[in-house]
Amino acid sequence: MNVVAIILAAGKGTRMKSRLPKVLHGICGIPMLEHVIGAAVGAGISRNIVVIGHGSDMVRESVKLDVDWVEQTEQLGTGHAVMSARPALGARNGSVVVLYGDGPLLREETLRSLVNRQVDSNAAATLITTKLDDPAGYGRVITGEDGNIEAIVEQKAATPEQLRIREINSGIYCFRAELLWKHLDEITTDNPAGEYYLTDLVEIFRKAGYGVQTMAVEDSSELLGINSRVELAEVDRIFRERKAHELMLAGVTIEKPESVSVDVGVKVGRDTIIGPFARILGDTAIGEDCYVGAHSVVRDSTLADGVQVNEYSIVNDSVIEAGCAIGPYARLRFGNHVETGAAVGNFVELKNTRLGTGAKALHLAYLGDSLIGPGVNIGAGTITCNYDGVKKHQTRIGAGAFVGSNSTLVAPVEVGENSYIAAGSVITKAVPADALGIGRGRQVNKEAWASERRNKGS
Ligand code: UD1
Ligand code: CA
Repeated sequence: MNVVAIILAAGKGTRMKSRLPKVLHGICGIPMLEHVIGAAVGAGISRNIVVIGHGSDMVRESVKLDVDWVEQTEQLGTGHAVMSARPALGARNGSVVVLYGDGPLLREETLRSLVNRQVDSNAAATLITTKLDDPAGYGRVITGEDGNIEAIVEQKAATPEQLRIREINSGIYCFRAELLWKHLDEITTDNPAGEYYLTDLVEIFRKAGYGVQTMAVEDSSELLGINSRVELAEVDRIFRERKAHELMLAGVTIEKPESVSVDVGVKVGRDTIIGPFARILGDTAIGEDCYVGAHSVVRDSTLADGVQVNEYSIVNDSVIEAGCAIGPYARLRFGNHVETGAAVGNFVELKNTRLGTGAKALHLAYLGDSLIGPGVNIGAGTITCNYDGVKKHQTRIGAGAFVGSNSTLVAPVEVGENSYIAAGSVITKAVPADALGIGRGRQVNKEAWASERRNKGS
């Protein structure tokens, strides 16, 4: 298929009121421009040229997909944007699709049908139209007596009668390449906005004796463009709904799907249950039979099968092996690896820590920069003092060790296999394997001290 796409993304997006270029605003976890490129690639268009202008450096840096970038330094209109892309195009035959970087809802199937319609016809171009209850702001489709499209009239140039037309131009086209390049320069700035309107090509083609056809779509939501943060939120909601439906149809249970946020790239296995208000974000893969409880956040993490992330937990940039139980109220900050069947309970924070197979840290602990062996029990309130104010140090705890509650492990320090640490200890020296380490003041009981104090009558 000899089709290239030109994606227009040079506009400022003034109504976003943002320092970030409009097309970089996130929808379902990725910049909206990436959705558009993804749809083009999904429709089989292998070469994509993106026209950028405002914030172009930022756009190039943020979008790491295989596209050709073209700079349009001055935004003189959609026709001008396509003119700017022309030098980047080698081949002058085949088809050229024009898309907008701020229209991320377009489905790849729709794009594929657009291309097929155009390729199978003799028309110079095929454009997607739809009927809107409120067509304000859009170019109106002017239809001749034969039912064919004759022109597109922009809002600013339309007569009151034309403004009543509900069929609008989506701005998504497929052109026969040679005719596009042959007639593109005939576009002028002779209109109320003084811009090069790509839409003028419809009339130009008709006058040159070529047919132009429309492809009307029923579901106009696919064509929604984003102009403000209100529309950003609306489109984000639609995307997340699509994602949730996709997962549910693939065997994932989602409770109150309208409250759940799952980013577009997330993978979830069968029979996993996702609770209300959960957020599963970024580059995350979740296995089968897992549970992500209400209000939990899982970001950039890998969860094997049968992992329970109980309510109100945060799992960030971590790997969790099969059958682990996390939370409720646990926080895995980053760089953690929790091995098979281990458990991390409430108010436990893990950072850059490896928790061995079947190990348990069930209550109120901070484990940072730690290597914790299999079967270790970390008592409530255990703290690794990994930071001396200048550097971070490691704590190593051997397999089968038992760390009593409220212990403080001053790193760097090593606790040997199968050893015990007495509750309330401050451990500053290595504890050998099989030993009992006690690091605390001895308890002294003063008999009858209390009654004597009372009897003094002071
Ligand atoms: C355009 C169409 C209109 C259609 C509407 C659908 C024209 C003249 N009008 O109007 O018929 O109903 O889209 O949304 O084409 N852009 C550039 N460089 C430019 C100008 C625009 O890259 O010089 C990009 C913008 O970033 C934007 C897209 O092209 O993503 C559309 O431009 P915009 O000015 O919003 O066109 P509309 O007035 O909405
Ligand atoms: Ca627009």
